Amino acid sequence: MAPTVILIGFMGSGKSAVGRRLARRLGWQFIDTDSLVEDRAGRTIAQLFDSDGEDAFRKLEQEAVIKSIGGQDSGVGRVVSLGGGAVTSRTVASRLEKEPLVFFLDIDLETAYRRACGGARPLARDRAVFNRLFSEREKSYMRLARFIVDTRGKSADQLAGEINSLLSRQQRTGSA
Ligand code: S3P
Repeated sequence: MAPTVILIGFMGSGKSAVGRRLARRLGWQFIDTDSLVEDRAGRTIAQLFDSDGEDAFRKLEQEAVIKSIGGQDSGVGRVVSLGGGAVTSRTVASRLEKEPLVFFLDIDLETAYRRACGGARPLARDRAVFNRLFSEREKSYMRLARFIVDTRGKSADQLAGEINSLLSRQQRTGSA
């Protein structure tokens, strides 16, 4: 089975930017579950939240994640970037527990908010909500991560390089 790298972490941690660069380096497929949800819904995530609510979004997100991680083995590796809240689904969490290449992109709260606010993210509209989710989710990310990557002060290219090195080391030794 071709390897699947999964990137988890809070909004603004750079999962999509890093994932895209990592996939390019490796010549692997890149999948962003937020984009899959938007394609499936025919709307942006913000529109989906506003019209149908968060639960409707989470349902589509769960389907998108399970499909991206499982699915047919195309023979080519995959890098899958998950939306920040995907780990709150029990189904997703128990699927991730079985995955050996889950990377948590760790970010500090201030940088995360600076990057995520004022844009298309419905859960970054209210600072208090954002702060609460940040601390609530930390435990899940830590628990599910096989690798923790400190993103502070690093560019997306640097982070893709760092993950690439961790992967090479893991492939050589069977552990990081
Ligand atoms: C969310 C994170 C977003 C997106 C949605 C909800 C969350 O993805 O899935 O707005 O609950 O943390 P990013 O983490 O890619 O911003």
